[in-house]
Amino acid sequence: MEYDITVQPGGTRFTCPSDEDLLTALHGAGINVESVCGGMGTCGKCRVRILEGKVTDPTLEEEDHLSEEQLDGGERLACQVFPESDLVIELPDSSLATGERLQLACELEVGGFDPAVRFHDLEVEIPASPGDHGSDLLRLRDALGSSHPGVRLEGADLEGLRTLPTLLREEGGNVRAVTRAGKLLGLLPRARNPLGLAVDLGSTKVALFLCDLAEGRVLASHGFLNPQIRHGEDIVTRIQYAMDRDAARLGQLVVEAINDNLDVISADAGLGREDIFEMVLVGNTAMHHLFLALPVTQLAMSPYLPATDLPLEVKARDLGLQLNPAAVVYLPPPIAGYVGSDHLAAVAAARLWERPEPCLLLDIGTNTEVALHAGGRMRTCSCASGPAFEGGGLSQGMRAGDGAIARVSVDPAAGGLRLSVIGDATAKGICGSGILSALAAMVETGAVDTSGRMREDGPGVERRGEELLFYLAPPDSGNPEGVAITQNDVREIQKAKGAIRAGVDALLAEAGIGHGDLKEVVLAGAFGTFIDPADALAIALLPPVPTGLVNQVGNAAGAGARGMLFSAGARAEAEEVARRLEYLELSAYPGLSKLFAAGMYLSQETVRGAKGRFGLQAPPASGPD
Ligand code: FES
Repeated sequence: MEYDITVQPGGTRFTCPSDEDLLTALHGAGINVESVCGGMGTCGKCRVRILEGKVTDPTLEEEDHLSEEQLDGGERLACQVFPESDLVIELPDSSLATGERLQLACELEVGGFDPAVRFHDLEVEIPASPGDHGSDLLRLRDALGSSHPGVRLEGADLEGLRTLPTLLREEGGNVRAVTRAGKLLGLLPRARNPLGLAVDLGSTKVALFLCDLAEGRVLASHGFLNPQIRHGEDIVTRIQYAMDRDAARLGQLVVEAINDNLDVISADAGLGREDIFEMVLVGNTAMHHLFLALPVTQLAMSPYLPATDLPLEVKARDLGLQLNPAAVVYLPPPIAGYVGSDHLAAVAAARLWERPEPCLLLDIGTNTEVALHAGGRMRTCSCASGPAFEGGGLSQGMRAGDGAIARVSVDPAAGGLRLSVIGDATAKGICGSGILSALAAMVETGAVDTSGRMREDGPGVERRGEELLFYLAPPDSGNPEGVAITQNDVREIQKAKGAIRAGVDALLAEAGIGHGDLKEVVLAGAFGTFIDPADALAIALLPPVPTGLVNQVGNAAGAGARGMLFSAGARAEAEEVARRLEYLELSAYPGLSKLFAAGMYLSQETVRGAKGRFGLQAPPASGPD
């Protein structure tokens, strides 16, 4: 049985089968409702109001998130509701996923230009009379051999072969032959250059870079939200969805989104997707596996093993990607179950092994990867930082889109706090960078102590029922609810930053060095770009180093992917780096829980004090912690 659903405001209509929850139907209709927990009923983000019609009774999860008054007023969690009649529903603004600041740029230069895809301009004779029995491919091979001595053609991709006779004749034999590893991929008219696509597939965001493989330049870049987000914000929820429901769908969603978004950038650049002969894709290991439809169940179970840690080459057509039919997708190797090829690409782009050591590199996200180059060795680990830095799990957390508070500073002259809101809009929530600086501001003003406890008598702290909260934007500031940080929000952020700090400290301890030895801390990725390093240092997310040693480089993973697209040498170098990276499995690291507990404190002094109390290994002479 199917019911008609009408959404207010706007009047959008779609149908929902009686055995499908409202959230799935809303997503199916292209309405991007927030769903941090992927429909498990635990995040409380997917609120709707039932204005007319009959639905199933509230679940226990809904009773946890909604008061009796809210339930009586028709408020429900879309993921828990099944229709029992036609419905009219209302979607509050706060339930709609907003666009997000996407970080595409990177200050790292990728050097080297020796692409795996090559092109050769040829004049191929096309016989008009009987007597010459050579095939088109043979004729092309001979033309290549005589005009480009030393270049050998040893075969052809089947799809390249299928188009060869027609294109050869259409162009009168004056063609640009596109080859890869001695095989013909296809022909282009002389005026068109072969293109490539570099993809940074993040769990939250996807970045595409359309590149000219003849001239070695980026023609266009484009970012969009990973459509898998509707099935959970973080990797673990996504894997759970794949295990319980539909793994294949998660991979398809990304392929469809790449195809759709390619339409946008190739049209903008005035270029055809059929000229794309190679794609390089980097991503965390779960994204990599889901994209390739590899099993992910083993990623969720100790010892968290990937299905492969080898580089792969796959035909784009086998994945459903609409590029040139002969195009190849190169996937650099994942390092471990929770350290993916995106981290490898970032390490490669930053050329971590060439920087003055010891040097740390962090890519902060729902999963934070950390690499340390020290003593000629490169170690890496993954920290389960969770979705808090993306706004997930926080009472008014949101991604970094319009209306998100992105920066908070204490301004005694202005009588309190100064807020910076993305899009100069009315504040409707707070994103990760905002949370970080809000927390720094709360510590600075004494609203919260360094153990993370809100002080009831602290400046700006108010009690609402059982809960203490700290208003950043009061309810009269254009948003009827205002924007506040709760005690629980503080704890969530402490857990996220404690996980990262524990990973950093474990790597330093493994290398036998202290914070004082560090020569540089490189922050990669969108979060690392938008945060104020002073905030991250103030709340002891980062180890105590002078602010000047923190270097924000932007989307290093995207830069690494472009580097591997432009250079087969860079690809080989990254594969070598993958072999050199020593992976530290934090879940098996002795003392991790103590490092984590110490890392949750909100100042460098209290982190250090806690480590002392917990009897954690004393650092070498030069290391303060
Ligand atoms: S509670 Fe519905 S998606 Fe999280």
